[in-house]
Amino acid sequence: MNILVTGGLGYIGSHTCVELLNKEYDVIIADDLSNSKEEVLDRIEKLTDKRPKLYKYDLKEIEKVEEIFKENKIDAVIHFAGFKAVGESVKKPIKYYCNNLKTTLNLLEVMNKYNVKKLVFSSSATIYGDPGVHEYKEEMGRGKTSNPYGTTKSMIEKILEDVYASDNSWAISILRYFNPIGAHESGLLGEEPNGIPNNLMPYIMKVAAGKIDVLSIYGNDYPTKDGTGVRDYIHVVDLAEGHVKALEKIEKDGSGKYIYNLGTGTGYSVMDIVNTFEKVNNLKLKYVIAPRRPGDLAEYYADPTKAKEELGWVAKRGLEQMCKDSWNFMKNNM
Ligand code: NAD
Ligand code: UD1
Repeated sequence: MNILVTGGLGYIGSHTCVELLNKEYDVIIADDLSNSKEEVLDRIEKLTDKRPKLYKYDLKEIEKVEEIFKENKIDAVIHFAGFKAVGESVKKPIKYYCNNLKTTLNLLEVMNKYNVKKLVFSSSATIYGDPGVHEYKEEMGRGKTSNPYGTTKSMIEKILEDVYASDNSWAISILRYFNPIGAHESGLLGEEPNGIPNNLMPYIMKVAAGKIDVLSIYGNDYPTKDGTGVRDYIHVVDLAEGHVKALEKIEKDGSGKYIYNLGTGTGYSVMDIVNTFEKVNNLKLKYVIAPRRPGDLAEYYADPTKAKEELGWVAKRGLEQMCKDSWNFMKNNM
């Protein structure tokens, strides 16, 4: 089976390509390298002995998307390509709406034309907004998003719903990720954030590496077990395995529209992450308590039951492994 993986050289995409190749899928990658490096392809090859075909195309250009479908018999698409920096999306909403929506609409148009109707899409827990409970369940639906990035994900979910409603021969799986961290245990694949990161784990890694002086912990007065924010951190390889399971299901069913939370079901606080990172990597992180970050919620985590029951998927890797693998990747790539 030929799987087109858009954004396949990125953080989650690259790990998913490895899992797909290990399961004997044929992988074709489309990535414009706007947030990744071509070297990742060499690393995928090193891990799997297979080198996927790479189209260095910007998927905002529909002719380029069409070229890929003309040249290959694509069976299904996993769509990761998009921009994801929340802060930047507030400053540059047009860039975010343009990229995340245009790439998706172009893909859908071309998929429809070539009668390729199997799609797995990267959504986010951010689409729940602020539902007033800690445990998020799929049936709670989409809430009010707090930034343009989140709104693009919510809009795309709605678009996919409409596409399926208009034509039930589509098979669409929407995966709502919680907080992906960690890296491939080989140290060859991981997240390489440019500049000053926004997210907790990339920030911790830069502090541990001595590239940033001190970690700011945004608030220690939340109504949580230790006052710091609680999230559901999930190992990126578990997440990648979730994509393979989602693909297997739409292949088997042939048609349908599904939504799954991909999280562990366990919430950890910022202090849990700091303490575990220090312990497993045998180092000290310099941190200060800073004011709360605007827009942050105190606590949320996934109810992952649906993915377990319908996909047979559960996250297997714990927090210690996530912290170890993140640092191992950073050390190998400084
Ligand atoms: P990433 O930035 O590492 O990967 C995205 C890839 O898409 C990059 O390699 C980039 O070069 C490529 N890309 C972007 N725009 C493109 C375009 N117009 N044409 C072709 N390629 C393009 O991000 P990631 O962390 O791997 O995330 C993958 C997907 O998952 C994204 O859609 C993201 O919004 C979503 N997601 C990520 C997280 C997270 O915390 N990492 C959480 C929830 C959802
Ligand atoms: C954010 C986005 C979400 C996106 C995710 C991964 C929002 C509302 N959510 O989630 O859409 O999918 O990133 O890209 O923006 N923290 C610190 N110090 C730091 C960084 C973070 O204390 O330097 C704390 C935060 O306050 C939070 C936790 O760490 O409690 C996790 O933050 P982060 O990694 O940025 O992820 P989210 O905010 O959960």
